[in-house]
Amino acid sequence: YGDPSQKIDYVFKVVLIGDSAVGKSQILARFARNEFSLDSKATIGVEFQTRTLVIQHKSIKAQIWDTAGQERSNAVYDITKRQTFDHIPRWLEELRSHADKNIVIILIGNKCDLENQRVVPTEDAKEFAQKEGLFFLETSALEATNVENAFLTVLKEIF
Ligand code: GTP
Ligand code: MG
Repeated sequence: YGDPSQKIDYVFKVVLIGDSAVGKSQILARFARNEFSLDSKATIGVEFQTRTLVIQHKSIKAQIWDTAGQERSNAVYDITKRQTFDHIPRWLEELRSHADKNIVIILIGNKCDLENQRVVPTEDAKEFAQKEGLFFLETSALEATNVENAFLTVLKEIF
């Protein structure tokens, strides 16, 4: 996960926002360290981790923050908890009031491994994302589904 001696072409800040327990910290753990924990503790304060990756021959250092927002952003909800999806407009409002206009945002429906507990239909989220001009993906931090994809989607947008 990144050669530290590598020269860095770009540094990007990515922020994870969304309700408590939707899986922000575990999405980050999966992306930054390829780890997952079922008994993840609630995040207190702000934490960040970095991962360096190569995209189109440029080395990109992604600095990923677990709260508060600027620049590239992942707005996360839990597909098994309707309220976490209903709160997304509030998170977007908060984000947009603080961030610069060039912000890139992806909406993430996490825990897609829990299909039998799903209450937020994929179509609803897709439609909302389209209306708001957001990228959209469903992920599972547990099964590592689309986590890499979600980060690559926002990081690639600068090219
Ligand atoms: P706060 O720090 O309180 O804002 O929460 P958070 O959004 O960081 O949630 P966290 O990553 O701590 O995950 C909350 C719970 O959901 C933990 O028990 C995780 O193990 C679990 N979890 C996270 N991602 C997934 C997933 O993709 N699938 C399943 N089944 N559980 C997940
Ligand atoms: Mg957390």
